[in-house]
Amino acid sequence: ATEAKPYDVVVIGGGPGGYVAAIKAAQLGFKTACIDKRGPPGGTCLNVGCIPSKAMLNNSHIYHQTLHDTKDRGIDVGDVKLNLPQMLAAKENSVNTLTSGIETYLFKKYGVDYLKGAAAFESANKINVALNDGGETQLDAKNVIIATGSEVTPFPGLEIDEERIVSSTGALSLKEVPKKMIVIGGGVIGLELGSVWARLGAEVTVVEFQNAIGAGMDAEVAKTFQRILGKQGFKFKLSTKVVGGQREGDIVKLKVDSAKGGKEEELEADVVLVAIGRRPYTQGLGLEKIGVEVDNKGRIVIDDQFNTSVPGVKCIGDATFGPMLAHKAEEEGIAAAEILKTGHGHVDYGAIPSVVYTHPEVAWVGKNEQELKADGVNFSVGKYPFAANSRAKTNQDQEGFVKFLTEKDTNTILGVHIIGPGAGELIAEGTLALSCLRNDLARVCHAHPTLSEATKEAALSTYDKPINF
Ligand code: FAD
Ligand code: NAI
Repeated sequence: ATEAKPYDVVVIGGGPGGYVAAIKAAQLGFKTACIDKRGPPGGTCLNVGCIPSKAMLNNSHIYHQTLHDTKDRGIDVGDVKLNLPQMLAAKENSVNTLTSGIETYLFKKYGVDYLKGAAAFESANKINVALNDGGETQLDAKNVIIATGSEVTPFPGLEIDEERIVSSTGALSLKEVPKKMIVIGGGVIGLELGSVWARLGAEVTVVEFQNAIGAGMDAEVAKTFQRILGKQGFKFKLSTKVVGGQREGDIVKLKVDSAKGGKEEELEADVVLVAIGRRPYTQGLGLEKIGVEVDNKGRIVIDDQFNTSVPGVKCIGDATFGPMLAHKAEEEGIAAAEILKTGHGHVDYGAIPSVVYTHPEVAWVGKNEQELKADGVNFSVGKYPFAANSRAKTNQDQEGFVKFLTEKDTNTILGVHIIGPGAGELIAEGTLALSCLRNDLARVCHAHPTLSEATKEAALSTYDKPINF
């Protein structure tokens, strides 16, 4: 047998956690490999998550605005038609440009060896890779970083066929606009991808188990958000649970029930999107074989230095604790690599922004009102509507507000919540405010994908190397 190739750092998974960890490790002088079985790097985020969803959100918004919001602006447009195959091709093009940029430019520039194949532990420092092109290879790793991400949580009894009953992946590639779409779950995926298809002409109904949409955002923001989406044509069935369903030919029938136990109702749609959350993905890794501890939700258990229960094996990103966000995974990737080099690395978990890329956008960082009340904090609320902001008015895009929550006595910022135009970019200032007392700008977590990430990378470049350039 050929001898295993020796590496200082082997990263399993090439998503935003893994590819960033690999680049950082290589920048710090470690001989580094990154393995992903998907083929193109970039993980869920670049291939079937953040990037394709934002491409569809942006282009469906332009289409919708061209149809409904030009006349008052002095623009008369003629026959506006949707060319869905071209919109899907534009999305694919965005994805391919970014994933090939990692593979052919960034990995080469920083000297990361990229392997396309499925990785499994032989032992804590021996990784078997079943190569996508056939054959096997083995890597010897002084340190391993697990960054295998997450997968969609299935809905019991509803089999995802990615055609009529779809996950986010299928919902990013529907070949025609559904007449009726039901979204199970009023969280981030449901509202973003529901928006895409509603703008393109679908009648969208969101069935949500909780009595609010937005999966835990500030309650006042969630209410405003629901009202605005309602005006855009969304229908909501809150406090409602799906109790069963099946595909019958080209339609899907769902039985829903009031969560408090009311009367049962049957709903019909031509596409049902299952968006009830994601769960860590560690299948086939062989964690049991080497004894890596996972919790009852399947998350790999780590300490504050990303160490798993097995020495020499760290874990970052969606596969472990914390919000399932690309920029959180990236921050952890950098910190994990720095800890390997210097023993120190840092993620400011109190200042990780969240963005919902609908129109208007919703963004927040820090604590919300209901959390502060539950914690018994004495706080002040400062709120300002975009209807009073000259730029928003000028742009005829004035729905929403900015809301600051501060500690009453000290005026310390505890949370920033924005619903309105460009909220995803504006939140960078709130994150900075929340975090800058403790960190320099390059250490402030910026939401992905946003223009504000360019500021962070530029700040980093003043004393260190950027990651994505
Ligand atoms: P992943 O990106 O999931 O990458 C893990 C990789 O590991 C995968 O490519 C997988 O193939 C590979 N892998 C797994 N097991 C093995 C193995 N045994 N061997 C080899 N390779 C393996 N987050 C945001 O911050 N902003 C957004 O706008 C956003 N939009 C989203 C939209 C959608 C529709 C979805 C589904 C998610 C979105 N997210 C967004 C969440 C974001 O995609 C994840 O938080 C992020 O991708 C997590 O990064 P990761 O590196 O931990 O894992
Ligand atoms: P989510 O956690 O955001 O929302 C799931 C929603 O489904 C919740 O509101 C929950 O109450 C509801 N739900 C759960 N079980 C249900 C049931 N049986 N019936 C009806 N409703 C039910 O999860 P989602 O939307 O699937 O997204 C997964 C993750 O992907 C997010 O948590 C986020 O981390 C990430 N993501 C981030 C994006 C961004 O940053 N812009 C965009 C898309 C995804």
